[in-house]
Amino acid sequence: MRITPSILNADFAHLADEVGRINDADAVHVDVMDNHFVPNLSIGLPVVESLRKATDKMLDIHLMIQDPDRWAPAYAEAGAESVTFHVEAAAAPIRLARELRAKGARASMALKPATPIDPYADMLDELDMVLLMTVEPGFGGQKFLDLVLPKIRRTRELLGDRPIWLQVDGGISAETIGRCAEAGADTFVAGSAVYSAEDPDAMVTRLREIAVA
Ligand code: DX5
Ligand code: ZN
Repeated sequence: MRITPSILNADFAHLADEVGRINDADAVHVDVMDNHFVPNLSIGLPVVESLRKATDKMLDIHLMIQDPDRWAPAYAEAGAESVTFHVEAAAAPIRLARELRAKGARASMALKPATPIDPYADMLDELDMVLLMTVEPGFGGQKFLDLVLPKIRRTRELLGDRPIWLQVDGGISAETIGRCAEAGADTFVAGSAVYSAEDPDAMVTRLREIAVA
């Protein structure tokens, strides 16, 4: 079970401090947006390279970009331990997953809320993590979509007890994390719930307690 806070709603002018505030996090979830795959622009490779120098924590990169086949490997080369690409954007997801692993990163594939998991059942062994979006990607602070819960259950059924992480991202809070854990998720992104909390570190600990309950 892992809590991976998203820095999307952190203070981008003080990123190193913002990351340092959250000791209890298992990884730092970094949302990369290109204003094409999603209607928003965030940060890219140079910031990830700087973050790499600023923290020893695992970097969990979530690429919401077009043409991940071209750009994702550079994030592995920058020292990110985990690189997630969107299947809706990848031209050759199996080849890309293999390339990420060859570069020493965990290979992860994300699905938007309306993208089904079953067409990808046969390629799950190529992956170290599946990310199921529980909001439409693009912005922090959106409302959790309960309609994704059956897909979380189905993905857990397909994964069985293989050591492939099942991450959920979007609208995860003290109110919604229990439902996701019960459905079979084991890795939880939380952005606004953590960074708008008075004590972000305590919120991570609280989310962890609810998820294991
Ligand atoms: C949304 C991003 C999320 C976002 C989560 O497109 O992928 O990681 O930061 O933020 P919250 O937890 O506020 O929904
Ligand atoms: Zn994300």
